Amino acid sequence: MSRSIKRVAIVGAGVIGAGWAARCLAHGLDVVAFDPLPGAEARMRASVANAWRPLAQRGLAAGADQARLKFSSSLAECVAEADFVQENAPEREALKQGLLADIDAAAPAHALVATSTSGLLPTVLAARMIDPGRLVVGHPFNPVYLLPLVEIVAGEKTRRESVTSAKAFYKSIGMRPLVVRKEIEGFIADRLMEALWREALWLVNDKVATTEEIDAAVIYGCGLRWSLMGTFLTFHLAGGEGGMRHMLHQFGPALKLPWTKLVAPELTDALIDRVADGCEDQAAGRSIQQLEQRRDAFLIELLGLVQKYWPEAEGLGERI
Ligand SMILES: NC(=O)c1ccc[n+]([C@@H]2O[C@H](COP(=O)([O-])OP(=O)(O)OC[C@H]3O[C@@H](n4cnc5c(N)ncnc54)[C@H](O)[C@@H]3O)[C@@H](O)[C@H]2O)c1
Repeated sequence: MSRSIKRVAIVGAGVIGAGWAARCLAHGLDVVAFDPLPGAEARMRASVANAWRPLAQRGLAAGADQARLKFSSSLAECVAEADFVQENAPEREALKQGLLADIDAAAPAHALVATSTSGLLPTVLAARMIDPGRLVVGHPFNPVYLLPLVEIVAGEKTRRESVTSAKAFYKSIGMRPLVVRKEIEGFIADRLMEALWREALWLVNDKVATTEEIDAAVIYGCGLRWSLMGTFLTFHLAGGEGGMRHMLHQFGPALKLPWTKLVAPELTDALIDRVADGCEDQAAGRSIQQLEQRRDAFLIELLGLVQKYWPEAEGLGERI
């Protein structure tokens, strides 16, 4: 398990699988992918090609080459010589349980196995593996080839060494691993995003605001601060010289006010139309690919800014 990782298997080559592949290739690794959907290889290669320009802007490792991506026609062949397997199949518990058991049966004994699940428990996902000790959650963020965060979550049977090795591997491909201390559904970041997302849906549902107005509230307000200081340190400053203690004293009572609902509204057809149409209006005819290019260019500059303003440790969380 401690040998160096040279060959990565990507199982499931959709949005996230292609993102992992691009990141690994850019770091000079060999990548073998598998996805049973017809046309998956061509789509994956196109996604990797789209990611290459921003990756090149960030700096490619020696030997980095899109040609080092191979596509297998079988799962067993895909993982047979892997040092690290990253599973990115659809977010369905039974499907992932079966797939992880198949990966476990076909991958070399030393290979680490990670799942990109957005919030399913690793103990549950490992239920059918013979060696559940090698499974970790490695939950990334889209676009995986640019965003550094990856949440690592251990299941009840995960070996400590698997967490350590996964953390070292993700660091070696330019990421910021965050080891989640307890195994909980939704982990950390998706719990936070989900809370905001539920409230945003309520605001649209109750006709308080359009999707564009809610996005503006994030873009020009809280989002700008979050990208540098997250939620706690941002509020620490909201208390002035008194810091977080004063902030809690002053705004603590508001926590009892009915500002948030926290339970999601019913996804009625009317709400789905309002949200989806709102996003189409905001996109104003720009394709997903055009929007991705704009997002990637912005993220590259933003990452530079975060590094510039947290030079001590390239941001918080390094102590974990
Ligand atoms: N999209 C995101 O923003 C995001 C972020 C973090 C994590 N995730 C997680 O990553 C995983 C993949 O999500 P996605 O957004 O890439 O989905 P996606 O639908 O884009 O891709 C899933 C891919 O898995 C393939 N697949 C289906 N059955 C398979 C099988 N048996 N073996 C191998 N591949 C199979 C599909 O053909 C498809 O190409 C999910 O667990 C999701 O929760 C998604």
